[in-house]
Amino acid sequence: MRTLDSLEPVVALAKRRGFVFPGSEIYGGLKGTWDYGPLGVLLANNLKREWWKLFVEQREDMYGLDASIIMPEPVWQASGHLGAGFSDPLVTDTVTGERFRADHLLKELGVETDGLTLEQISAAIKEHGAKSPQGNPLSDATLFNLLFPVTMGAQQASGNTAYLRGETAQGIFTNFKNVRDTMSPKMPFGIAQIGKAFRNEIAPREWLFRVREFGQMEIEYFVRESEWEQYFEEWREQIQGWHSHIGLATENIREYEVPVEDLAHYSKRTIDFEYNFPGKGFDELCGFAYRTDYDLRQHMEHSGVSLEYIEPDGSRFIPHVLEPSFGLERAFTAVLCEAYTEDEMNGEARTYLKLPAHLAPYRVAVSPLLKNKPQLVEKAREVFRLLKQEFGNVAYDDNGNIGKRYRRQDEIGTPYCVVIDFDTLGEENPAHADTVTVRHRDTGEQERVAITELTTYCK
Ligand code: ATP
Ligand code: GLY
Repeated sequence: MRTLDSLEPVVALAKRRGFVFPGSEIYGGLKGTWDYGPLGVLLANNLKREWWKLFVEQREDMYGLDASIIMPEPVWQASGHLGAGFSDPLVTDTVTGERFRADHLLKELGVETDGLTLEQISAAIKEHGAKSPQGNPLSDATLFNLLFPVTMGAQQASGNTAYLRGETAQGIFTNFKNVRDTMSPKMPFGIAQIGKAFRNEIAPREWLFRVREFGQMEIEYFVRESEWEQYFEEWREQIQGWHSHIGLATENIREYEVPVEDLAHYSKRTIDFEYNFPGKGFDELCGFAYRTDYDLRQHMEHSGVSLEYIEPDGSRFIPHVLEPSFGLERAFTAVLCEAYTEDEMNGEARTYLKLPAHLAPYRVAVSPLLKNKPQLVEKAREVFRLLKQEFGNVAYDDNGNIGKRYRRQDEIGTPYCVVIDFDTLGEENPAHADTVTVRHRDTGEQERVAITELTTYCK
């Protein structure tokens, strides 16, 4: 049972325990940017690694890529991102000059804007008396493009404009020919990439949910047009499998078939996988789109370079594309919300993160029962090194008493705490020599385990 009814406790825990900090905090912060702290980077890396393992390493039809973040203007002209399709409706508070997303303000009044023109949005603002959050009148709606321009090199001459990528996908499309020519992939096949994307969001909000710099984990899966529906269903199941792999409860995930009038400019069919974010309700976790041959065709026309697939018999065609697109920060948030649990243990209230072991920042924490006993410390360091070699992310924790260490490790989601005590040294019961206490996060249960069994036990 979920104990959260808002995001606040998760945000507070994430700050307090070194998961997520506001970007550039000592200078007052930069809106729409957040930094992963020491534990956040471990969790985020685990998510990325598990994603790569599942979608690239464990398959035979996937190729990896790591393309540049900065891409020139013609890429974004061809992709359509410089047009209305990658712009949001903006309104200005006529008193303060502050800017807001018109669709968000109208949604709060129960008015959906899907498929409406700018004129219709402006009319809806008047009709429903929409005001800024400060209660002031609003301007008419205009379009605001979300791409971040950057100036390349020393000269600000025209033609030097480039953009931080608004989606990692375009680096995949522009490298289609390179992958085709170097790897000779057989149809169907996919190209996967994990990296940063940037959007100049009008109103970043809700912690990591809407930020200006975020991680994407994307796959462009190339198929023959006649096969897109078959592979659409296969990928839909793969995406469901990923969500259960990262521990999200089925009842907290919902599939939303995006109505035709609200599809992205490149899409013929899209399903948004939505997560039930505490205090917010169901909202987009990741997207899954059938992009047709739109992107390859556009880049072919704009670059003049053939982006066709060449069959062994020499015949050619432009592949169609299925695109599962995962946002790292939204997955990170969902995983934390899902894991956040409050309960009572030994008569005391506690908070713990019930993270799947393969995502937890630390797999194990190792402690000597007492830190002023050199034999205990020496043995604990030995066990720590052994486990670190196996799992990499292992904590050595000798702060405070054992109870406090357990609480601290519970709060950051460490599945196992290993304690080296006098029994380990064989001082109290020779039969227990070279065994340790393993304490389980979720139940508080403790077991004695031989040191030689530990790596298997904590797997
Ligand atoms: P929204 O409707 O919430 O703005 P979107 O439809 O623009 O999202 P997509 O364009 O489908 O999102 O982007 C693919 C994925 O990238 C999203 O499912 C989400 O996980 C992530 N994403 C997109 N924009 C942001 C953002 N501003 N901050 C964090 N993650 C984002
Ligand atoms: N590549 C899909 C998206 O970012 O919208």
